[in-house]
Amino acid sequence: MAGIEILHSEVRNKIAAGEVIARPHSVVKELVENSIDARARRIDIVLDDGGKQDILVNDDGCGMSRADAILAIERYATSKLKTVADIEHITTYGFRGEALASIAQISQFELETSDHTGGTKIVVIGGEFKDIIDSHRPQGTRVKVSNIFFNLPARLKFLKSSQWEKRLISDVVKNYALINPSIYFGLEESDRKLLDFIATDSLEKRVKMFFPNRVVEALVHLDIKVGAIRFTGFLTRPDFFDRHHMNYLYVNARPVRYARLYRTIVNAYQNPKNLPGFLLNIEVAPSMVDVNIHPTKQEVRFKDERYVLDLLNQAIKTKVFTKVVQAGFRTSTSVSTTPGEMMVDRKFVQETVLPYSPERFAEPLSAQGSNEFWQLHDTYILSQTKSGLIIVDQHVAHERVIYESITKGKGGSQRLLFPITLELMPEEYRAYKKTKLLLKELGIEFKEFSAHTIVIDSLPTDARVNREDVVDLFKELDALGNLIEQRNEVAKVVACKSAIKAGQSLSVSEMRSLIDRLFACENPYTCPHGRPIVIRFSLDELATRFGR
Ligand SMILES: Nc1ncnc2c1ncn2[C@@H]1O[C@H](COP(=O)(O)OP(=O)(O)OP(=O)(O)O)[C@@H](O)[C@H]1O
Ligand SMILES: [Mg+2]
Repeated sequence: MAGIEILHSEVRNKIAAGEVIARPHSVVKELVENSIDARARRIDIVLDDGGKQDILVNDDGCGMSRADAILAIERYATSKLKTVADIEHITTYGFRGEALASIAQISQFELETSDHTGGTKIVVIGGEFKDIIDSHRPQGTRVKVSNIFFNLPARLKFLKSSQWEKRLISDVVKNYALINPSIYFGLEESDRKLLDFIATDSLEKRVKMFFPNRVVEALVHLDIKVGAIRFTGFLTRPDFFDRHHMNYLYVNARPVRYARLYRTIVNAYQNPKNLPGFLLNIEVAPSMVDVNIHPTKQEVRFKDERYVLDLLNQAIKTKVFTKVVQAGFRTSTSVSTTPGEMMVDRKFVQETVLPYSPERFAEPLSAQGSNEFWQLHDTYILSQTKSGLIIVDQHVAHERVIYESITKGKGGSQRLLFPITLELMPEEYRAYKKTKLLLKELGIEFKEFSAHTIVIDSLPTDARVNREDVVDLFKELDALGNLIEQRNEVAKVVACKSAIKAGQSLSVSEMRSLIDRLFACENPYTCPHGRPIVIRFSLDELATRFGR
């Protein structure tokens, strides 16, 4: 690493300053970042009392000369940034030259480091140098931080139980370990290993060390490059509704909190009630992202945010959804989602993302080799697929089909043989007045008679309703409250009321047609209200359950 220098005041003034160390886990975060920036291959972290007593981070990185080690503890001392222009091109985790100075200020601090010129040990207590001596250690750096906040009783008071602090530290280590698979990470306390991640050559292998099998099996690999932007990582299949704690976002391998990015992913999955799991890294040219907006360096902003988020939305829809639908229902072996094959799936890396088009997998399921359907309790449709069995909730499946067809204006309407005359209650009539234009757009047509009496003579093609459903429609529209003017919300109610209900018996050809149309939908996995539509059982899962 190039030598350390104290930043010029004009550079300092451009750097987001503020609180750097809030609790033990911030110390671990900063030290681990430094070790990775120093190109360490191995990082060992040892705690005592959840980090409240001691935090020790040892690495085999490039180490520091004596002069650099002394300078490193000064404020604004960094080897990672020199000029204002460099702020636009940050490729390291650190850049402010603040971390070691802040840590040394609030603890009893020991830095032991060695580069090719020899070793140094420095002791600093509450910001004051106490000792600088020779040290004999292999190349690398070891930082020991003891009695954090010993000189700030007001801050000490806010530390929680060691169990709690340890959990936060463990989350920090996981966050960095996941995205740096080629580095060994170990975390231990009182000779007990809490985390132990051996170095590996791929993100996929690291992911497998982290997450249980059932989550790994549900992951789809994403690797897409559009111009200078690359999205890599793993997302859960849209039909995976299990509990998990997979929520990892990175920009240029920096763990970030980025609410809009998070929302984009959840929106691409159409807001399912069970949130999708993801580990996603977005690589962009350093000049395209501002990392200097918050002192903790965890918040970043893309300069062309809309563009990046739109691409991500497209990427999830074209790659994750399409791949899953194809993998689940093709009889050929054209697509695989097994993790072992994910990483070699480089054919999905491409220069452009195609515009999303559901027609691409609109091929009828029956034509794809699976044409066995059974109805369970007149409520669920069971069907055999290439890799096992799917169970489809007939009501929400139909709801999704109608919702997409009416919101996209593709559905049209069907004239009723026997128009339905309704006398509406005052609140239903109010809902009718507010929504009648929207309802027409969505395929419901009517005539008005006397006050509060309307005759419905057309409904969306495909609607399966009786009189009660239509009465309920206006009740539910009224219950929308302030949302009643939103087209999507009205469409959800229309779709729900028009859809086949649980308890209705379906013929095999009706089931086949419904399933075919479901998998031609943009999102066949969650209903407009966010409930799952399809549950999958793989043959492997069944075999495990049966102890085969
Ligand atoms: N583990 C390490 N191995 C080698 N050099 C290190 C290590 N830790 C710190 N340094 C050196 O000390 C300098 C100061 O570290 P410090 O963490 O205070 O600042 P920074 O990493 O440059 O910026 P930031 O405050 O954003 O973390 C670094 O720029 C780096 O040159
Ligand atoms: Mg640093």
